[in-house]
Amino acid sequence: MSEQRPPGPKDADPKGEDADGEGSDGDGCPAGLFARRTFLQGTVATGLAGAAGVSLLDAGGGAHASAPGAPAADDTEAIPFHGRHQAGIVTLPQRDATFVAFDVTASDRKALTDLFRTLTARARFLTAGGTPPRTPPDRPPSDTGVLGPKVLPGELTVTVALGASLFDDRFGLGPRKPVQLVTMKAFAHDDLDPALSQGDLLVQICARNRDTTVYALLDILFHTSGAMRQRWRINGTRNPPRPVGVPRDWFGFKDGIANPDLGDTAQLDQEVWVHPHTGEPDWAAGGTYQVLRIVHFRLEKWQEVPLEEQERIFGRRKVSGAPMYAEDPDASDQLDPIYTNDPQGLITPLDSHVRLANPQTPETASTSAILRRSYDYDRSPDVRGGLDLGHAFCCFQRELDTYVAMQTRLEGEALVPYISPRGGGYFFALPGVRDTQDHYARGLLS
Ligand code: HEM
Repeated sequence: MSEQRPPGPKDADPKGEDADGEGSDGDGCPAGLFARRTFLQGTVATGLAGAAGVSLLDAGGGAHASAPGAPAADDTEAIPFHGRHQAGIVTLPQRDATFVAFDVTASDRKALTDLFRTLTARARFLTAGGTPPRTPPDRPPSDTGVLGPKVLPGELTVTVALGASLFDDRFGLGPRKPVQLVTMKAFAHDDLDPALSQGDLLVQICARNRDTTVYALLDILFHTSGAMRQRWRINGTRNPPRPVGVPRDWFGFKDGIANPDLGDTAQLDQEVWVHPHTGEPDWAAGGTYQVLRIVHFRLEKWQEVPLEEQERIFGRRKVSGAPMYAEDPDASDQLDPIYTNDPQGLITPLDSHVRLANPQTPETASTSAILRRSYDYDRSPDVRGGLDLGHAFCCFQRELDTYVAMQTRLEGEALVPYISPRGGGYFFALPGVRDTQDHYARGLLS
């Protein structure tokens, strides 16, 4: 690790920082607030919270008015770091995110292990919050100071995933690669930029506020420089409900309606988490496959498309988010899209996005459920001075093949002329860090 990093503890021991405590129940899932959160799943939660003005994470159920000078109530919220699974996957999506892919430059297996130890120590401190070590005025400060004298957790989650390239012959990990983990190949209509694709490691950093995300990223970069180097990065935000329900994407459609129920652990076990004794390496149990796709939206072109055509392209109503058979603008987006009485796609076109993603046929039943956790990006202007808005499309699934089968079906979707996939990659999100003695990828490396 090179010297430009500010002084301060470098190793895995956080004793230098007063890390705030945290809780979890026996099986590693965060207790109390997580259970409550998972109960208040997706659309309902956002609507209820918005309507009632209650912070989702407020175990007491009361609204918090911040006293002048007091930290923003919601910035004190910490999402537990330890658990069987990493946070930032079935965690309700926070408002701000950055996805950073890295090339690992660590020279050998020991240096790689040190990297994961350091990453763990930093993530453990940052997600709990605390007071960075004080340094004398004639010494560089121990942190950037972006969050002030006391680092607040601000709903921060740090989620680490591995790319197929990390399993090449550099660290001797080849035989331990997750079975379905491969380098992402281009699909039809992709226009992948190699500089915006792949990577040995993906670090997903999410938080309530941008400064918390950037603070965490800078801290991680400073403490790991010399062992890994940024390859590409995409920043994203999640829009607030308009007016209720899941956020709308830059096409103006509610995005994230038909997603697995975050409160249904049986469903998540079935569709998201890798289990032991399933043909995957044992160390991978508790992890999940993560896909990141950077998809540019051709908004100038989309603006020309009549509303009814836009709705036929997605297969849902624009204002309500409801299925096509529900024309009432106040119809609920929780209504089930039913295709049994519409075999020719007269109501919901056969080449519409939702019908190709999930055709609801016996043949596609096993490749129709993924957990989407996407963000919207704005990197405008592009090199020609044009708009560059789009999706940092992110999903998690127990089998990468599920995503590949679904994306292959979408190669024929009516949305194709309005999107241009430009980058991303396939990764395996590590199992959770169990406790203060554990670290990222310990099972893999031992
Ligand atoms: C790239 C831009 C994309 C946009 C703007 C987009 C937008 C949407 C919208 C508006 C919906 C309907 C509302 C909902 O249920 O969330 C939807 C549904 C869905 N999308 Fe996408 N999506 C995109 C990419 C993808 C990709 C790459 C996949 C997977 C390969 C995907 C898989 C799904 C699935 C599984 C559903 C739910 C289908 C259902 O069960 O009804 N989407 N998407």
